[in-house]
Amino acid sequence: MQNFKRDFKIAPSILAADFARLGAEADAVIAAGGDFIHFDVMDNHYVPNLTVGPMVCRALRKYGITAPIDVHLMVEPVDDLIIQFAEAGATYISFHPEASRHIDRSIELIKEKGCKPGLVLNPASSLELVKNSLYKLDMLLLMSVNPGFGGQKFIPHTLDKLREARALIDAGGFSTRLEVDGGVGLGNIREIAEAGADTFVAGSAIFGAPDYAEAIKTMHTELAAAKF
Ligand code: DX5
Ligand code: ZN
Repeated sequence: MQNFKRDFKIAPSILAADFARLGAEADAVIAAGGDFIHFDVMDNHYVPNLTVGPMVCRALRKYGITAPIDVHLMVEPVDDLIIQFAEAGATYISFHPEASRHIDRSIELIKEKGCKPGLVLNPASSLELVKNSLYKLDMLLLMSVNPGFGGQKFIPHTLDKLREARALIDAGGFSTRLEVDGGVGLGNIREIAEAGADTFVAGSAIFGAPDYAEAIKTMHTELAAAKF
């Protein structure tokens, strides 16, 4: 057990927001204590669902959102959209390694464009896929559901994978954030933190709550009680 506290960040996923009022919803979750706007991009090809593109990211910036925008690309291929999202105001851009023919080239493209690169692993994808790139990454995102939809149940095996990923990050002395996405809520956020995560995507657990600030505050209370 270490005696320092991690710098925990909460990333509300706008997938669960009211899209007709997206600017106001993004404002509201940041005012409620959210740290990053998690922005899910689905192309109905890499995943069986379709969401929003760079125009909507740019619109949020224009609306006045200054918080980091954490773009999660669930698209294939990735390079063209990396450029478009960088130009639309993204902060982090993460992609699934299976969706790029040249992973290192795509990471470098994100950096060249002034954004922070991340890789995302599906539940069945091995950490081997990211080991060689970890030293370059600002974000490692482990999916705890199959990507494509909000409101799914957390896959418990992710806890073991988080422990393994945390060990790799710490052993390398990297500052890479370890993010978890899918089925994160008030009832499991503490054990997810104890397994090694420091960044928590939550869609339905925040946007489905009657009071966003209350939900985020309870998450922080749970995180403060995490032992690791
Ligand atoms: C799923 C998305 C998630 C989704 C999480 O493919 O990547 O970001 O919004 O939703 P919840 O928190 O409801 O499981
Ligand atoms: Zn996501």
